[in-house]
Amino acid sequence: MTSRKPIKKAVFPVAGLGTRFLPATKAIPKEMLPIIDRPLIQYAVDEAREAGIEQMIFVTGRGKSAIVEHFDIAFELEATMRERGKDLSILDSSRATPGDIITVRQQVPMGLGHAIWCARAIVGDDPFAIFLPDELMIGAPGCMKQMVEAYNEVGGNLISVLEVPMEEVSSYGVIDPGEANGALTEVKGLVEKPPRDKAPSNKIISGRYILQPEVMRTLEGQEKGAGGEIQLTDAMAKMIGQQPFHAVTFAGRRFDCGSKIGFVEATLALALEREDMGEEVRSMAKRLLD
Ligand code: G1P
Repeated sequence: MTSRKPIKKAVFPVAGLGTRFLPATKAIPKEMLPIIDRPLIQYAVDEAREAGIEQMIFVTGRGKSAIVEHFDIAFELEATMRERGKDLSILDSSRATPGDIITVRQQVPMGLGHAIWCARAIVGDDPFAIFLPDELMIGAPGCMKQMVEAYNEVGGNLISVLEVPMEEVSSYGVIDPGEANGALTEVKGLVEKPPRDKAPSNKIISGRYILQPEVMRTLEGQEKGAGGEIQLTDAMAKMIGQQPFHAVTFAGRRFDCGSKIGFVEATLALALEREDMGEEVRSMAKRLLD
């Protein structure tokens, strides 16, 4: 194994308006909606930390400051809890080390590619990860850790993929798969939101990426793609052939928390597995179904 520049930075595009969850997301960011007792963004940040990532770069927008507050030290809260002899360790994963949370603003919603490009000065010349927090990935090890392990083997660019029914491919970025080797598949092509009959496969990009910094140059001045937006998928497609490009099939479960059904499913699935409440939730669910 050759040594690669380690992945220490991750970009989290969190500037979206979250219109699918209105009115819940009128005054709070959708990334702050909780699955049980952790906001969605916390799952993604924890997954990043598990993979050895230290710097979290949030691409935010107006009205999104609660995300940054969440990772700060809540002085009054902690003082009160301490006074009352409460256990503060419950806050541990939401207390970032100073300097580890960085934000940049995406002033206008011009697409995922544009959001990532907004982080270019902080990413600099390092390879970096991207997390789309709507995609909740549950696995042991987590999705990004599996990807970092693959990256240590093959280097270059990696995306996580999973298979969906053919009727759903037009909502996603889709890969044209080449040779496969275990969980790794060579990526020969990428297309964003193709019509079903033009889709090269049913393997979709599922919201986790490890990319080389050159993608920022590719995004620079890139034309609009699917949906009139600057697409990350289009920039990545241009890098195929120039640099290694692989897909990692995630061994674990994925919940699409960008949709209400996915959100409810994730809540129920994780609640059923929790040691502190799983049994009660199970009997409650049975009662409800009867
Ligand atoms: C984005 C990406 C797409 C990817 C999807 C995963 O699309 O552009 O390639 O498959 O996330 O959720 P969006 O959901 O923002 O339309």
